[in-house]
Amino acid sequence: MEEPTYILACVSAALVSAVWLLKTWRHNRQLNPIPAVGASGIWGYYTGGLRYMLHAPEMVQEGCTLYPGKAFRVPRLFRWDFIVSGKTLIDEVASAPESILSALEGNKDSLKVDITIGPEILNHAYHIDVLRTTLTRNLAKCFPDIRDEISCAFDDVLALDGAEWKSVPALSTIMSVVARSTNRLFVGLPICRNDDYLKLMVRYTIDVVIMAQVINLMPAPLQPILGPFISPRSRGIRKGTTHLGPLIEHRIAQEKAFGRDWPGKPNDFISWLLDSAQGSERTVPDIVVRILTTNMAAIHTTSSVFTHVLFDLTSHPEYMPALREEAERVVQELGWTKTALGRMYRLDSFLRESQRMHDNGPVTMTRKVMDPAGFTFSDGTVVPAGSFINATSRVEHFSPANYEDPDDFDGFRFSKLREEREQNEGQAVFNKHMVTTSVEHLSFGHRTHVCPGRFLAAMQLKAMLAHIVINYDVRSATDGVRPPDDVFGIVAVPNRKAKIGFRKRL
Ligand code: HEM
Ligand SMILES: *[C@@H]1O[C@H](CO)[C@@H](O)[C@H](O)[C@H]1NC(C)=O
Repeated sequence: MEEPTYILACVSAALVSAVWLLKTWRHNRQLNPIPAVGASGIWGYYTGGLRYMLHAPEMVQEGCTLYPGKAFRVPRLFRWDFIVSGKTLIDEVASAPESILSALEGNKDSLKVDITIGPEILNHAYHIDVLRTTLTRNLAKCFPDIRDEISCAFDDVLALDGAEWKSVPALSTIMSVVARSTNRLFVGLPICRNDDYLKLMVRYTIDVVIMAQVINLMPAPLQPILGPFISPRSRGIRKGTTHLGPLIEHRIAQEKAFGRDWPGKPNDFISWLLDSAQGSERTVPDIVVRILTTNMAAIHTTSSVFTHVLFDLTSHPEYMPALREEAERVVQELGWTKTALGRMYRLDSFLRESQRMHDNGPVTMTRKVMDPAGFTFSDGTVVPAGSFINATSRVEHFSPANYEDPDDFDGFRFSKLREEREQNEGQAVFNKHMVTTSVEHLSFGHRTHVCPGRFLAAMQLKAMLAHIVINYDVRSATDGVRPPDDVFGIVAVPNRKAKIGFRKRL
């Protein structure tokens, strides 16, 4: 290198560093009023950021203990993220509109949605409206199919012989049942039983999560260039098209020929999506992407919850007789219907209690601050524009102010309340069903972005639990000890290796 060029390069490098240091310092000063967990100061990001990768749950707990009911910040590798605790602030996050605190942008960042899934779902998330309205309205009508699929799927995956006990890995077994029964509603028979299709739907979520982390390690300008090479998107669309392409094309053609309500039109999620899709959304790849995304939101969440439920049931076998009595009595009276599930108060309570104690980590409701002025909480705290906020669900779920003996699993906690209310006329209506959300119960989120799939999930979970208690005996393979969660950074999932024993009741 010639000398002047060399000097120029050094000077610009020094300038860039100086500007960067100044910016970081100003940024830090601006944030100073909000307390930090872990090291703060210019180098705080780096030491603290590494610590957060290894000890996120402990650091969140530390923040909640030191700053109860307040906002605090935690160091990430290249920035500060914000965590809020306490009913008031959590409710303010839950209530904020998408244009102020964006959930789509919040997830876009952690999952690199635009690269790993596709820009279409960010541009127009109409599939969420379809879930909230058409899908939820059709649940009772579609229940017999879902019930049939749950029952067949358990027969197939357990493949029990006579009255022998058989041990199976809990999570993967449940995942097959959930994937099949969910896709019976999404795409119908026979595709919902195709192994290759189901594998794609289960695997896609895992690939998105892993590849998003790899992409997030790249410098921002390189992400859109290198990201697509490792993104699961194009393979997902290609394989999804192999399975769903002919079916989607057939439906579009039928509609063109015979009108929107063509004879024989199936009542499933693909039809409901096509009813709402506009213009370029009415194409095979766009519909395939929505099916992939919705499966992503549905399968692992529902399977995790049910695996936890099985761990709770086998480590508290004393609940079995009462659950069984209720399920058998109600099914005898009302048959296998959605109305019957609505009468299973103990099952509902057991599921809600299990969710309360076993969320998938201490935080939820990821948001990005969109307002250029930042987001101002009612206590005066201002979180700057472009920052990420999470709310702590764990503290509320385990607060003695919200729950008596919060550390104890009390499977009938909520059904006992319901019975008390029914005996005392004139009391307020019962509002602790498993689908009811509040700042004390955040398993499905709350308010603006509350999970639109929760009515489907609740119906499936109850149908699976009723099916199991009526048809099987279950036992833990670990002698009553609840298998510990697998923890990845801030996320906790049910133990993926633990086994459960099943035996057919004769
Ligand atoms: C037990 C199973 C489930 C759990 C625990 C769960 C939990 C959640 C949570 C915590 C949120 C985030 C709320 C927020 O950020 O404020 C959410 C959102 C969402 N869930 Fe679920 N979910 C479950 C099942 C499902 C199912 C079966 C579907 C689809 C059929 C689904 C579709 C969605 C969608 C599309 C969103 C985004 C909503 C929005 O941003 O407005 N979920 N869910
Ligand atoms: C907030 O939640 C998202 C989604 O689980 C996660 O990716 C992110 O790391 C969380 N932020 C913090 C500070 O824990």
